[in-house]
Amino acid sequence: MINSTTSPYRILVVEDNLGDFTLIEEFIIERVDFPKIEHANSFKEAETLLAKPENIYHIILLDLSLPDKNGENLIHEIIALSRHTPVVVLTGFSDFEFGVKSLSMGVSDYLLKEDLNANGLYKSLIYSAERQKISNKLKESEKQVRSFANQLNNALEEERAHIAREIHDEFGQQLAGLKMSLSALRKLKNSPEAQEEFINSLVEEVNNSIEMVRRIANELRPVLIDKLGLPIALEWLVKEFAKKTGMSSEVNVVDTPLVLDKIVEINIFRICQEALTNIAKHAQATEIKLDIACIENTWHFKVSDNGIGIPNSLNNSISMGLLNMKERSYLIGATLIITNNLPSGTIIEITVNPND
Ligand SMILES: Nc1ncnc2c1ncn2[C@@H]1O[C@H](COP(=O)(O)OP(=O)(O)OP(=O)(O)O)[C@@H](O)[C@H]1O
Ligand SMILES: [Mg+2]
Repeated sequence: MINSTTSPYRILVVEDNLGDFTLIEEFIIERVDFPKIEHANSFKEAETLLAKPENIYHIILLDLSLPDKNGENLIHEIIALSRHTPVVVLTGFSDFEFGVKSLSMGVSDYLLKEDLNANGLYKSLIYSAERQKISNKLKESEKQVRSFANQLNNALEEERAHIAREIHDEFGQQLAGLKMSLSALRKLKNSPEAQEEFINSLVEEVNNSIEMVRRIANELRPVLIDKLGLPIALEWLVKEFAKKTGMSSEVNVVDTPLVLDKIVEINIFRICQEALTNIAKHAQATEIKLDIACIENTWHFKVSDNGIGIPNSLNNSISMGLLNMKERSYLIGATLIITNNLPSGTIIEITVNPND
């Protein structure tokens, strides 16, 4: 028996022949628990029912010869109105070939009226409804993938703009300054002492530029991940963060024997980076803690703070940080859990098993 625990099956039967409708109704009641069956005698009636947004059916059973419309036209119009509800077509023996053709027009199944029985009808209803559920889930996950690709693209563009700004505004200015200093150096050719002092300041300027190039390169791709692995890169990230913000920090790394995939590592690094940015922006915390452990092949990364905690309801619809964290986790097959760190603060925990 179809036994939908969440809501009873709602079925629209579009059939002008009252005898056929009664038979179909009996067959459905025989196998389906508490169905909600609605009846349309004509295309017009079906159109009126389907046009109402509150009328969402699990299945539409459609007789192909109605007084006001039939055949191909009828199928096209009902499918257009169906809002993805599966349509099962009822045909007579004489329409057998058309029944087969109707599958290519988007109907989910066809049944021969002369062969109709409770079992056949039940099977068709179940298959069509379940197939639709799977297809809806697939569409939903395709939508998620598309939206993630979009966000990733936007993030990439933002990052490029940010780096271009840094190169133009800071690095460009430093080079311009160096050029002016070099021109000024020419004027000091008769004073070796002044020249010496000037050269020292030039070396200082060049050192600043080297530091800046390093910083930009590191923003693009944290070098430590490639050189020393994720745990050390994260430890560095947290220590740098603590230095900049004045917060106290604690890092615990336990048993990390495996080397994770580079894509996984960079995504976890970015998630932790966003978690730290959020702590600086919102948490009003004084302490942060990073715990890394690998237990039975499963890695756990935990960033905790002792701040005010994430509010229960978030109303900033344009905020992207948490969403990006979730999507990055999804992309690498990790689980992300965000909880309030009672009595105060937030915990962001990423769990990933490289073998899954
Ligand atoms: N560690 C934290 N402590 C307290 N509140 C937090 C913390 N992390 C996030 N939040 C809250 O969750 C909200 C959503 O965070 P999210 O990172 O998605 O957006 P945002 O930081 O406001 O903006 P964006 O990251 O897009 O620049 C924040 O606005 C903040 O209210
Ligand atoms: Mg954020």
